[in-house]
Amino acid sequence: MIFDDLRAIQLRYGFLPKAELEGLSQRTQTPLYQIHSVASFYPHFHLTPPAKAEIRVCADMSCHLNGACELRAELERRFSGSRPEEVQIRDVSCLGRCDRAPAVAINDQIFADVTAASAEQITRHALRGEETLEPHPEQSQVKCKADPYENGEKYGVVRGLVESRAWDDVLTQLKAAELRGMGGAGFPTSTKWDLVRKQPDPAKYVVCNADESEPGTIKDRFIMTHLPHLVIEGMLIAGLVTGAKRGILYIRHEYGMQEGILGKEIRHCYHRGLLGKKLLGGDLDFDLDIFVSPGGYICGEESALMEAIEGHRAEPRNKPPFPGQIGLWQKPTLINNVETFINVPQILARGVDWFAAQGVNGSRGLKFVGVSGHVERPGVFEVPMGTPMREVIFKHAGGIRGNRALKAFAPSGPSSGYLPASMVDVRLDFKALADAGSMLGSGAIVVCDDTTCMLDMALNAVRFYRNESCGKCVPCRVGSQKMSDLLGRWAQGPVSEPQYRAELALLDELSEAMSQTSICGLGQIAPAPIQSVLKHFRAEIDAHVLKGQCPNGICFTAASRAGEAQRVGIRP
Ligand SMILES: Cc1cc2nc3c(=O)[nH]c(=O)nc-3n(C[C@H](O)[C@H](O)[C@H](O)COP(=O)(O)O)c2cc1C
Ligand code: SF4
Ligand code: FES
Repeated sequence: MIFDDLRAIQLRYGFLPKAELEGLSQRTQTPLYQIHSVASFYPHFHLTPPAKAEIRVCADMSCHLNGACELRAELERRFSGSRPEEVQIRDVSCLGRCDRAPAVAINDQIFADVTAASAEQITRHALRGEETLEPHPEQSQVKCKADPYENGEKYGVVRGLVESRAWDDVLTQLKAAELRGMGGAGFPTSTKWDLVRKQPDPAKYVVCNADESEPGTIKDRFIMTHLPHLVIEGMLIAGLVTGAKRGILYIRHEYGMQEGILGKEIRHCYHRGLLGKKLLGGDLDFDLDIFVSPGGYICGEESALMEAIEGHRAEPRNKPPFPGQIGLWQKPTLINNVETFINVPQILARGVDWFAAQGVNGSRGLKFVGVSGHVERPGVFEVPMGTPMREVIFKHAGGIRGNRALKAFAPSGPSSGYLPASMVDVRLDFKALADAGSMLGSGAIVVCDDTTCMLDMALNAVRFYRNESCGKCVPCRVGSQKMSDLLGRWAQGPVSEPQYRAELALLDELSEAMSQTSICGLGQIAPAPIQSVLKHFRAEIDAHVLKGQCPNGICFTAASRAGEAQRVGIRP
């Protein structure tokens, strides 16, 4: 509830005045320090009055590849005469519009595909006190192979299960299908469901993770827009199988449109008796709510997400115990990604053989992937699992923009690191990508053409982790800053060979310490981008550090140095 209270205060005053927080503390009998510790954690809340027009330019991978630095510099120039209480410009982490980069948020409304001129125009509206509303372009309904109800009545699987009560059969089928989690880690879904089902506690929860805040990751946004009924049916089946009576769909606050679509579908389900007490007239209950995230990439980590729902700072918990044993409000909790949930009704409606046959080259099932960066047609595509990356990039996404050559691609945002063009035949598959030294992750393919500087991209990725580190553990909090400093220095000028060798050794030691000792996946994976660049693009790094040369002319320019001064980070 604390977030509702804080949001209401912010809506009224534009920020959180001290006196209001004191009043809230007294009303709710919550110590002020606790309220303050929560309010100061989330970037969504302002503790001081914001400027009349707050411009936040997304600085992450896909926007960075599409001119975010230049956009920010130009906006700084256009508003150089403005007073700080009028206009404030700063960086922000991925806004979930990676396919329409660059994206900016102006007074918390998100605008994609912006130019300096269009951003200036919106800002001037805001300065005149006019309302600046985020555009929601009409979304034509897209037919997806993943939808088993394309021509028939929805929620057929749930209706059948309420009759048959074949809960164990569901687990058997998910296991036979070899369904794995689509949120990044690829954990076997049936094992997780079985663990929660076996817990004796009568109170259990099902949580759908729709936080989707890693740069390049946009496929859950697409799924929630076009297949909301499958998300709800997947959660409902999970509740019935595990014995959980309450579900929570955790969605990032930048997905207002999808929140609306899901809210409408949930109301529709209540109306038709598919959700609520005694659903479908039987003796089973399942209630479903939407929880809007107060913001931050770390909220997608499952235990941090539960902390946020409980109204705390989103700091990950030590594991074990796992959420399936001790989760939300200390109760067994099943947490899956949006795409994992929609696979469940698909498998149960059409059978394991159908599911297995959807993949190609020995893989199973379908995959939604987001493609962004330097491609002709950025967007989300539904492809067979096992599709070669070449086909995704060159056929579905239309190839490299402006007839340039492919230089590198990240199979799944910064977490997967970068692979060179020579590996573009790697298949979209858990094992194939792991064998290639990367990962399938959530399927957020970010494409770089031959004008890209890979040191610049590694630096961009590590800065993202530095900015988004929750700060709970030292290896990640301090390590991500040290790593940013080190790469930032490499991008600024030459050093002697002995110093370079010493710094490379230090980087390896730091990477090892972060991967081994960080509490959660954020700190563990933060070294991946620079380690992959050192592995595949070593000559490019050597040229920077030993000769002071950037083969792509991105670093060592006056503009890049100016950009360096601006990129002070989101939480300096
Ligand atoms: C920093 C961080 C951010 C994450 N963000 C997400 C996210 O936005 N969505 C998601 O489904 N999983 C995310 N995960 C993975 C979750 O912790 C969890 O493994 C996942 O939701 C489980 O669902 P699955 O088994 O269906 O993949 C994140 C993990 C980390 C370490
Ligand atoms: S690894 Fe980073 S994000 Fe994760 S708990 Fe530690 S400080 Fe927080
Ligand atoms: S919106 Fe900029 S990287 Fe996602």
